[in-house]
Formats: sequence, C-alpha cells, structure tokens
Amino acid sequence: MKFFIDTANPGEIRKAYEMGVIDGVTTNPTLISKENRDFIPLIEEICEIIQGLPISLEVLSLKTEGMIEEARNLAEMGDNIVVKIPMTIEGLKAIKVLVAERIKTNTTLVFSPTQALLAAKAGATYVSPFIGRLDDISQTGMDLVAQIVTIFKNYGFGSKVIVASIRHPIHVLEAALIGADVATIPYKVIEQLAQHPLTDIGIERFLADWKKVPKK
Ligand code: E4P
Repeated sequence: MKFFIDTANPGEIRKAYEMGVIDGVTTNPTLISKENRDFIPLIEEICEIIQGLPISLEVLSLKTEGMIEEARNLAEMGDNIVVKIPMTIEGLKAIKVLVAERIKTNTTLVFSPTQALLAAKAGATYVSPFIGRLDDISQTGMDLVAQIVTIFKNYGFGSKVIVASIRHPIHVLEAALIGADVATIPYKVIEQLAQHPLTDIGIERFLADWKKVPKK
C-alpha cells in the first residue's frame, strides 16, 4: 500500500518524507491557497523535497480544451507531475487526450462507483474517491472504496485507487484491509497512525527500570 501525503505544506511534506513513509503528494486548490505562496516556487520547493515522487496538481478549467492546456503546462514541471482532473464529462474527454500524450492523471472528486468505472475506462492513472466528504453526508465512504476495488479487480483495470478525504486512522486501516492501492493522508493523521499509549507507557517503564540497573 502506498501512502501519499495530502497537503501543500513543505514543512509537513519534509517531516513525512524524513519518516520514510510517503510515496507521493496530493494537493488541491484549497490546500495550495492555505500556503499563501506563489504557486510555481511552492511546487518547486515541494518537488525538491520529494525527489521524483509523484505529486498531484489540479487543473481549474471546466472545459476539456482548457484542462488539456493546463495539464500540458503542469506536466512540463517534471516527470513526477500527476494532473488532477475533475470527474466530469469534460474531464473524461481531457483524460483520453492526456493518456495518449502519456501525461499521468488523477481523476478527482469521485463520489460513485460508476464515476470511477468511467474514469478507469478513459484510462486515468489514478482515481480518487473522497470518503470523508461522503461520511459527512451520512453515506459510508469506505463502501465506495470497496466497490471500486472490486470493479477494478473484476476487469483488470490499470487505474490505481487513491483513498482521499481521509479524516482519521480508521479510514487508513479500512482502506488497507480493502486493499486500496493508495491512501492520501493529512500529516496529522500520519502522526496519529504512529501513536499508541501503551508504546509511551512501555518506553517510560523501560527507562525507569533501566535506572535501577547497577552501573559502575
Ligand atoms: C485528495 O486528493 C484531496 O486533496 C483531499 O483528500 C480532499 O480532502 P478533504 O475532503 O478533507 O478536503
């Protein structure tokens, strides 16, 4: 299972990269806007940190032609750029063209299994179901992931499933149990994955007991 970090914050990306647990980065316009920085230097800084790992950057055009043009420009920034295309009919048409140009795509804002099926048929490199946003409206997001994983296995689609809009460690656990290819995780949740109170208690106890060992 691959872990991407879902942030545009270079500090968070550096910390996760140094932990040795991340395989890529996903961003979106909201995450980029939080950094309050010029887009290009921000992405250059992130790319320097992640050393060729994939980074998803989103297009803003709503029409196919605009998406394709933006995607081509973004892809020029490096071989590791993955272009996020919204799951619309215009987006599907853009994906078809970008696949032919070998530009990697991440179909974003996927909320149903049939949307995922269409994205896979169009040849998307990645498909991103947003599970937290479904949970927010009382629909179990992880059910969608299970359905997509089954459909992709049934037909041997090459698209990878990125579980997105992750809110807590149980989302990561369930994604792993289902066998999703990737989870894109906020930094705070990566930290939460590492924590266990019994680990902290155990360390304290070992340190306390070590003090009792006679030393010359
Ligand atoms: C994924 O690629 C998106 O950037 C992200 O997971 C969206 O998460 P949110 O629903 O917490 O905004």
